[in-house]
Amino acid sequence: MIYMDHSATTPVDKRVLDFMLPYFGEKYGNASSLHSLGQEAKKAIEEARVKVAKVIHADPSEIYFTSGGTESNNFAIKGVSFADKDKGKHIITTKIEHDCVLNTCKWLEKRGFEVTYLDVDKHGLIDIGDLESSLREDTILVSITHANNEIGTVQDMEEIGKTVKESNAYLHTDAVQSVTKLPVDVKKMRLDMLSISSHKIFGPKGVGCLHIRKGVKLDPLAHGGGHEGGLRSGTENVSGIVGFGEAMKIGEEERPKAMPRLQKLRDKIMDNVLKIDNTWLNGHPQKRLPINANFSFKFIEGESLVLLLDAKGIEASTGSACSSKSLKPSHVLLAIGLKPEEAHGSLRLTLGKDNTEKDADYLLEVLPEVVSELRKMSPFKKDYGEFE
Ligand SMILES: Cc1ncc(COP(=O)(O)O)c(C=O)c1O
Repeated sequence: MIYMDHSATTPVDKRVLDFMLPYFGEKYGNASSLHSLGQEAKKAIEEARVKVAKVIHADPSEIYFTSGGTESNNFAIKGVSFADKDKGKHIITTKIEHDCVLNTCKWLEKRGFEVTYLDVDKHGLIDIGDLESSLREDTILVSITHANNEIGTVQDMEEIGKTVKESNAYLHTDAVQSVTKLPVDVKKMRLDMLSISSHKIFGPKGVGCLHIRKGVKLDPLAHGGGHEGGLRSGTENVSGIVGFGEAMKIGEEERPKAMPRLQKLRDKIMDNVLKIDNTWLNGHPQKRLPINANFSFKFIEGESLVLLLDAKGIEASTGSACSSKSLKPSHVLLAIGLKPEEAHGSLRLTLGKDNTEKDADYLLEVLPEVVSELRKMSPFKKDYGEFE
């Protein structure tokens, strides 16, 4: 099997797993307990907090462990909205956010908040002028994803940070796809909050964090025994947290070597796949995640493509794996201007550290054959009249 779906999830790195294992066994303490076993768990959590903070240039006290990206995004957006509702009820986000941001905003709209969804250009970039003119006296929060999970487009967070700092609003970014793939610095980006998910970076599932800058006041989502500074109650997932910390450390240490290699491999895939006729790249040609390639193939359904590739031993995705339960075309591809039928014919390939030159060569051998096979059977063929 050749796995090229690393933006959906990643395997747990063997070194991370080894680091976690004792916390399922002999080191099973509850971090709130006063005895040695409890204090050992607490120490491990604090060490993980330091590792996570270091990667994003934050203070360890600004890291709040959660169950992952979805919870962190909910926490940031609802937390500010509840805490600051007397200051204003206006939120700004974009049309290409992950569903966990968009659906949180829709939920808040039903409760009296007003949300501006910024447009993006054909490459998936927002216009800073648009952001500037959308900011109002009553804007309490701007939430913009650093790197898009489907098309890989990377927003200029430093520019966004400068613009939002001129206003009264807080700035949150979903960095689930960018951390350990790109440099992320909460100070340079002037961020108030940032979300991370462990299972996207070779760590375990069901854990992540929200960075909250000192001084930013949020309401908690979960009330209880006062864990995580009273902002996220619930007995800590110790094994998950220590695994997440180690995955962050390894991912960031290896980034300077790993990313240029994967980008070269991705570029080779991009150059060759684009030789297939009636095919184009989705997302920005340069400002994109080094591991991401997203193509549209005319006259083809992405689902069939993914299933046929799977049968040949290649695992990829169409649109976002998180929304694959829906048959609606990807809202991200529609937002960059694709027609619904074009959006249905997309393929996302996302590379990870185990992918090799041999994997890319096999993909490049198989993909043109699969595309051609599907086009021969395509019901769209006669509508376009372009194929015999
Ligand atoms: C950009 C982005 N944000 C948030 C999430 C949700 O993260 P989690 O799976 O940890 O809830 C994902 C997962 O696909 C994502 O890609």
